[in-house]
Amino acid sequence: MDNLQGLGTLKIYQADEARTQKMDEEAEHFRRITMKVLTMQLNSISVMDLVAYGGAACGMLIALQDYGSRQLSFYGCVLILLCAAEFFIPLRLLGSYFHIAMNGMAASEKIFRLLDQKEPTPGTHAGFLAPQLELCSLTFGYQKERPILKDLSLTLPFGSFVGLVGVSGSGKSTLAGLLCQTLRAEQGMIRMNGLDLKELQDPFEWITLVSHRNHLFKGTIRENLQMAKPDASEETLWQALKEVRMDEFVKENGGLDLILQEGAANLSGGQRQRLCLARALLKKTPIYLFDEATSNIDQESENEILQVIHSLKGKHTVIMISHRLDYCQQCDTILVLEDGTLCEQGTHEELMAAGKTYEKLVRQQQALLHDVQGGIAG
Ligand SMILES: Nc1ncnc2c1ncn2[C@@H]1O[C@H](COP(=O)(O)OP(=O)(O)OP(=O)(O)O)[C@@H](O)[C@H]1O
Ligand SMILES: [Mg+2]
Repeated sequence: MDNLQGLGTLKIYQADEARTQKMDEEAEHFRRITMKVLTMQLNSISVMDLVAYGGAACGMLIALQDYGSRQLSFYGCVLILLCAAEFFIPLRLLGSYFHIAMNGMAASEKIFRLLDQKEPTPGTHAGFLAPQLELCSLTFGYQKERPILKDLSLTLPFGSFVGLVGVSGSGKSTLAGLLCQTLRAEQGMIRMNGLDLKELQDPFEWITLVSHRNHLFKGTIRENLQMAKPDASEETLWQALKEVRMDEFVKENGGLDLILQEGAANLSGGQRQRLCLARALLKKTPIYLFDEATSNIDQESENEILQVIHSLKGKHTVIMISHRLDYCQQCDTILVLEDGTLCEQGTHEELMAAGKTYEKLVRQQQALLHDVQGGIAG
């Protein structure tokens, strides 16, 4: 799938031949493994058949011999001849049941793992309308020997408007993954109103993640929006579209029944992102997490999306991850990640006055922006 989806890119870089070779090698590896399994299956069946048919044949020969030496009556001999093949049927069945049992064992392991999961504690969710998030000595690494986040501790009261910044690769998206529980920390925990997030069956009931990677499905705008709120009325859907300034475009292009092509290819990047935001707004969760929600889109869409994000201030907890440090200036708190640790925390003014990592990053970005503008003007 990966190779097929990236076929266009492979063609651009003329790497399709090398990739074909790799695919051939992988296919050959798969063929060898499959043949190994089939050989084992065939061998076990052959042994079973040998025992079953060989046993039946032996039984028949002995019965005939005994009949010849008059140790067995004629009826007794016929009975044994007729029953000999039947006698080993359970053995052959056992062989086939063995394979079914192995499949069952693999499936049951998954079922038991699911059954072993802790159920959410009833009654504790009531206070989650205004949840407070707490990170307690959170440590995480994709590989054991390379921690990405180290001993992170932090409290975010409900309604906080937080900017999460840091150089590329500092672990911002990793922290977003941990907050959504798509990644699990080995050490430490994230608590929501005192309850470990791992105890929750579905953290997405409280947290909505909006990132530039959000997917829009082939189908109508209505279907894509109702994914977040299946019982949403027409009015609610239009209101969400209005909030992200997509209502005019949708009205002019067939309304809520406008069909989106695969990957929403018939929308522009900005429209796609605005529609994703409209869907997120419909979900109405107390916590919103924006991970580069405005990257790779036009300036106008970017500004409009930022306005919507800012309008959530006070009513929801908002965590905004952005490369653009100027977008985080209005945040109540800015968290600065460096080498997997929370190196600074405060308002824009406080961090600028401190003159440490944040200030350095802001200066670098301003200089870069200045150079680019100078380059364009020149
Ligand atoms: N799935 C993964 N497997 C292994 N390592 C990963 C994985 N995802 C990220 N990493 C590593 O974890 C580190 C942090 O990545 P992360 O995506 O959290 O950074 P980030 O701060 O969001 O960066 P950016 O600003 O570029 O989005 C990086 O060094 C990256 O190489
Ligand atoms: Mg990231």
